Amino acid sequence: MDLINALEGLASELRKELDQASLFSQEKLEELRVDFLGRKGRLAQIMSKLSSLSPEERPAVGQKANTVKQECSRLFDACKQAIEARREAAAVAGFDPSLPGRTPWQGSLHPDTLVMEEVCGIFRGLGFDIAQGPEVEIDHYNFEALNMPPEHPARDMQDTLYVTDTVLMRTHTSPVQVRTMLARRPPVAVVVPGKVYRRDSDLTHTPMFHQIEGLMVDRGISMAHLCGMLTAFVRAVFGPATEVRFRQSFFPFTEPSAEVDISCFLCGGKGHGHGEPCRVCKGTGWVEILGCGMVDPAVFAAVDYPSDVTGFAFGMGVERIAMLKYGIGDLRMFFENDVRFLSQFA
Ligand code: PHE
Repeated sequence: MDLINALEGLASELRKELDQASLFSQEKLEELRVDFLGRKGRLAQIMSKLSSLSPEERPAVGQKANTVKQECSRLFDACKQAIEARREAAAVAGFDPSLPGRTPWQGSLHPDTLVMEEVCGIFRGLGFDIAQGPEVEIDHYNFEALNMPPEHPARDMQDTLYVTDTVLMRTHTSPVQVRTMLARRPPVAVVVPGKVYRRDSDLTHTPMFHQIEGLMVDRGISMAHLCGMLTAFVRAVFGPATEVRFRQSFFPFTEPSAEVDISCFLCGGKGHGHGEPCRVCKGTGWVEILGCGMVDPAVFAAVDYPSDVTGFAFGMGVERIAMLKYGIGDLRMFFENDVRFLSQFA
């Protein structure tokens, strides 16, 4: 019974081959399976000789072939599982649970946001509300009601981004003064953080930037209140030793008007360091941080406020405050969204 011997030999051959199975990959194992049990494999070759046997001999050989085939399949399955188990064990061995975790990327607030939150927080503490207004504004609120008649130079096409003849991108947050006073009777005290737009783009100007407006109106409000509040504000942001200077200026919607300078944070107001003129204040000892003044009566008339109220208003550039506060030298940093810059404010 050559065929029976051949079949028995097949199973022991396979056992021998699989003894080296520790070296096998699943792919190699599959090749071996095709070699033994495939359509043209060794088992099939033995079985092709079945026809040469007499009908009496065939059943015994057929039965043997079935058991050998089952035995081989079982060996293959066991080997496949062993390979998979080894792969898993290796993966676990390569995992070191004592390694520190990978810190996920975490966002941080933009310096503009930080400054707006800080400044608004200070004024909330002084009793101000937060107000907001639209960035697409009508001419009337942006200019006309702020005492800027049509021929005023600030309305020049050079500076203003127009949407239509009467609709524009607000050039400052001051129109929210008008909107607030139209919506509320005095007393009012609001600060207004927001985006403003100008047709201007170079090293120190961007077409969009941020401002914070302030407005306080009541009976008996004077320039002294303005000076006191702004001094308190400046010292809260830049430190209690900061000197404040009010320099006479002009805005169409305030009278009198002033610009506020603070003593230079870099040279401490000396104007120089290491024998060189200070690069922040350009040797003057002062840096300008905002514009302000007493609300012009023409503005009160435009919002139909009673003639016995007075008030002050101020407006500051957020990027400018942030540059001074954090020592940022280049305005473009604010708008490039480079994480190497932004993550420094985490
Ligand atoms: N709106 C002015 C500007 O953009 C700033 C300002 C606001 C000045 C309020 C006085 C009062 O330059």
